[in-house]
Amino acid sequence: MRNLTESNLTDAVLSKLAGPQDVRFKQIMTSLIHHLHAFVREVEVTEEEWLEGIRFLTRTGHFCDDQRQEFILLSDTLGVSMLVDAINHRRPSAATENTVFGPFHVIGAPEFGNGDDITAGVPGEPTYVRGHVRSIDGRPIADAIIEVWQVRPDRLYDVQDPEAPGMQLRGKLKTDGEGRYAFWTIKPVSYSIPDDGPVGDMLKASGRHPWRPAHIHFMISAPGYETVVTHLFVEGDPYLNSDAVFGVKDSLVVDFQAHESGRAPDGKSVDKPFYTVHYDFRLTRA
Ligand code: BEZ
Ligand code: FE
Repeated sequence: MRNLTESNLTDAVLSKLAGPQDVRFKQIMTSLIHHLHAFVREVEVTEEEWLEGIRFLTRTGHFCDDQRQEFILLSDTLGVSMLVDAINHRRPSAATENTVFGPFHVIGAPEFGNGDDITAGVPGEPTYVRGHVRSIDGRPIADAIIEVWQVRPDRLYDVQDPEAPGMQLRGKLKTDGEGRYAFWTIKPVSYSIPDDGPVGDMLKASGRHPWRPAHIHFMISAPGYETVVTHLFVEGDPYLNSDAVFGVKDSLVVDFQAHESGRAPDGKSVDKPFYTVHYDFRLTRA
């Protein structure tokens, strides 16, 4: 293993994987080395470009702490998160589709009863969201856990605001005996993903914007079923065709039906215009 050249270096590195490692580890490392070397060969990376790449990854690491994960953001904005998701959640077409998890889910969100208001007092356009959780053959799933979270109208999640009085616009609900769920929230807004770090620089250099179309996050789980991590997007949002993290699927774009002030479907009297959303989630067997 001496006098290695441009043409035999890859094989030399691959031959180092001959030891008794885990089979999957070997498969992953073999492919990684192949693709990494092929990339360097294809673009004939200069030394300055290679160093710039190392600096970029170093800065990405420095931006990470327990509140911010710049590497996941990089994966999201390069479409890798959605590719990993697609490969790992191949479902029948009748099932609700997954989309990107994102960094703003919080463990321990407050629990609510069906029909409750999850806004924690954040003002906005009242929105009543309701529907069923069913199996793909249409059977209602009782006691499914539904976690919801969404951005505030100032385009920040509660966890991005050190002054936030506590958890806002997030909660945990359970479907009733007929698989029904319902909650009051406010109409979500589009927002920019954090773009003050290396990922933001990469987007700018690529001529891309950092916006996500308005959405409500859902994570739905029930014993014996595959957990669904998804969003409901707002029909008509200007960013539906250019989501910075490639998460939009037609089946998840819903009509936020506008109503004048008056009586809502749950009988509540609302003294200003409001919206209603109806969506049924369909889960596959685990
Ligand atoms: C989100 O929707 O919360 C999100 C997803 C990916 C990256 C940043 C934010
Ligand atoms: Fe989000």
